[in-house]
Amino acid sequence: MEPLIDLSVEAVKARLHTTRYGRSIELVSRTGSTNDDARARAQSGAPDGHVIVADSQDTGRGSRGRTWLSPPGQDLYVSIVARVPVLPSQLPPLTLAVGLAVAETVDASLGAPRARVKWPNDVWIDDRKVAGVLLEGSSAGQNLESVIIGIGLNVNRDEFPDWLDTPGTSLRLGSQTPGVRFERSLVLARLLDDVERWVDRFVAHGVEPMVGALEQRLALRGERVHCDGLHGVVEGVSRSGALRLRTERGLQEVFSGRIERLP
Ligand code: BTN
Repeated sequence: MEPLIDLSVEAVKARLHTTRYGRSIELVSRTGSTNDDARARAQSGAPDGHVIVADSQDTGRGSRGRTWLSPPGQDLYVSIVARVPVLPSQLPPLTLAVGLAVAETVDASLGAPRARVKWPNDVWIDDRKVAGVLLEGSSAGQNLESVIIGIGLNVNRDEFPDWLDTPGTSLRLGSQTPGVRFERSLVLARLLDDVERWVDRFVAHGVEPMVGALEQRLALRGERVHCDGLHGVVEGVSRSGALRLRTERGLQEVFSGRIERLP
């Protein structure tokens, strides 16, 4: 592949502080979906923490059947093979743990506490989506054999189509320094550090450590929203990763769906 200016395996590895994530890493210039590639690697025995990062994807996948636009030269499309002892029912809270990790990477990159986690799988800066998380598990018996952690993080893109469900942004657009470009290798190394730490925390302690972190970071908390046929005020997230909505009929938990702010 053509050398990429700001993304290389050597530069990522030189900055890593992880024990497993990214120690085995592949960089490809173009692929269909890194989540599919990571699934194939997991099936042929790739170790915990194996990473595939692509410069572009032809069929990048978002949650709920949506497309993840993945043009070359600007952003990060990353999938991690995670061999974690979790049940399928734990994927929603694990998705939130990864969202918290991505939010920390965004803050560290911008040098300011700007990122919010928008339930269930988005990271926002100022009401605009800067990243999305897509976890896909494959099971062997009760526990999942492996989980593919897919992350799309908008790094240097400065134009987004106006038909997106949620307006898009990037680290570059969210930065206080006009016109800055971020080195993707550095952002990726940070991201792998943060994701490994949050996944390990989740495996060791469950949702407990997430509660305080989400207090600070949950987007739309206290606002009136619509989600999965319900109207209510966002109160927080339950131990199972469900959204807690205060509705006219009392507190309700929503397990999947997309939150939209009500006027
Ligand atoms: C979402 O917000 O809907 C989730 C988006 C996840 C996109 C990433 S990009 C890397 C990985 N490969 C994919 O095909 N999807 C995920």
